[in-house]
Amino acid sequence: MQQFTYCSPTEVVFGPGTEYQVADYVKKYGGSRVLVVYGGGSAVHSGLLDRVTQALTEADLTAASFGGAQPNPLLAHARAGVERAKELEADFILAVGGGSAIDTAKAIAHGAANPETDIWDFWSREKPLERSTPVGVILTIPAAGSETSDSAVLTNPDIGRKRGLSTPFNRPKFAIMNPELTLTLPVYQVACGVTDIMMHTLDRYFNPIDNALTDALAEALLRTVIAQGRTAVADPHNYDAMSELMWAGSLSHNGLTGLGGNGDWAVHQLGHELSARFDLAHGASLAAVWGAWARYVCDARIERFARYARNVWGVEEDDDDFAAAAGIAITEGYFQSIGMPIRFSDCVGVQPDAVIRELAHSCAYDGTRTIGTLRVLSEEDIAEIYADANQ
Ligand code: NZQ
Ligand code: ZN
Repeated sequence: MQQFTYCSPTEVVFGPGTEYQVADYVKKYGGSRVLVVYGGGSAVHSGLLDRVTQALTEADLTAASFGGAQPNPLLAHARAGVERAKELEADFILAVGGGSAIDTAKAIAHGAANPETDIWDFWSREKPLERSTPVGVILTIPAAGSETSDSAVLTNPDIGRKRGLSTPFNRPKFAIMNPELTLTLPVYQVACGVTDIMMHTLDRYFNPIDNALTDALAEALLRTVIAQGRTAVADPHNYDAMSELMWAGSLSHNGLTGLGGNGDWAVHQLGHELSARFDLAHGASLAAVWGAWARYVCDARIERFARYARNVWGVEEDDDDFAAAAGIAITEGYFQSIGMPIRFSDCVGVQPDAVIRELAHSCAYDGTRTIGTLRVLSEEDIAEIYADANQ
């Protein structure tokens, strides 16, 4: 194992009815003036937003709401939220929703605590983030894992970039997780979530280093998500399956399944370019490139891909080359079976060569970076992977 530090400080409050405890947890973490951040309206239609606001005001907390966080949340919207938080003099930001509402809440929290700085300066690494406002979460979709992660992802359409920011200040104080709140999800969003949870695990698992315990945890998480995901996509009202996915989503992205390793994360970087350019849902963007990525890099650690095939998918094949190829094909078949794309023609359409080159150039930050650790990928490598996915 390599050196690591592990701090997953988010207090997890799991189970039916837990959203009614929200005021206690806001108070516990010092909140009195709360900006409630939500998405496009699902929390309004379900009545959750009203229940939450009522619970806060009945506990003598000041609450105001700020909606409109869209999937692949936008910088401009988060900036507007910062202004709203300043008007309210908010001392606590509460996200109600999924990764998009949560990441917007994190951005607002950073902006509210640093009124002299434009929040994009933190995402572009122009300024270090040294303080923030506490954030709490009521989660409504098992997917991004933002409820316990140290990251937040924003899209800046002015420069065509979707970028993540990782910092301990992104860890929410608490995450309220009631699986019943997920039962209104469309099947497509369930499938996107399953894919993202798998990919948070796979992007850590496929790295240059072997770690017995970390790898075994990752494999168990993958087997669980694959099985429960199958059930949930067939029946999104299945509480047991959705509750397993909900917990798996948090564990897949709080750092646990990558400890001691050196995560690859190339697939996330490849996917972010598709989301930035085509506004493709995050989970779908990952499924659309994973197979092309895996085929391109697998020779660098064929034994790792073979182990994945055997331990996660039960492939019985002694030869590593055959096992690895089978594992990649079965993974793509699984994505298709839950309605996810596995190539561009399934989602954004086949693109001209010029677009493939632009995607690669942007993913390489205009030729200034490589991506990946299992195999380090240059702009030319990235272009090859996009070209393979472009069918
Ligand atoms: O916006 P509303 O109306 O709430 O609808 C949402 C949205 O359309 C809907 N939804 C959520 N809960 C629902 C529901 N519909 C019915 N019933 C419910 N209970 O689902 C759609 C997707 O929501 P979103 O929040 O976008 O999903 P997700 O959690 O997948 O978040 C995706 C965003 O998170 C980023 C992604 O890049 C993307 O921008 N990520 C954040 C990470 C992090 N902060 O750690 C890590 C991830 O790798 C990811 O990059
Ligand atoms: Zn993700």
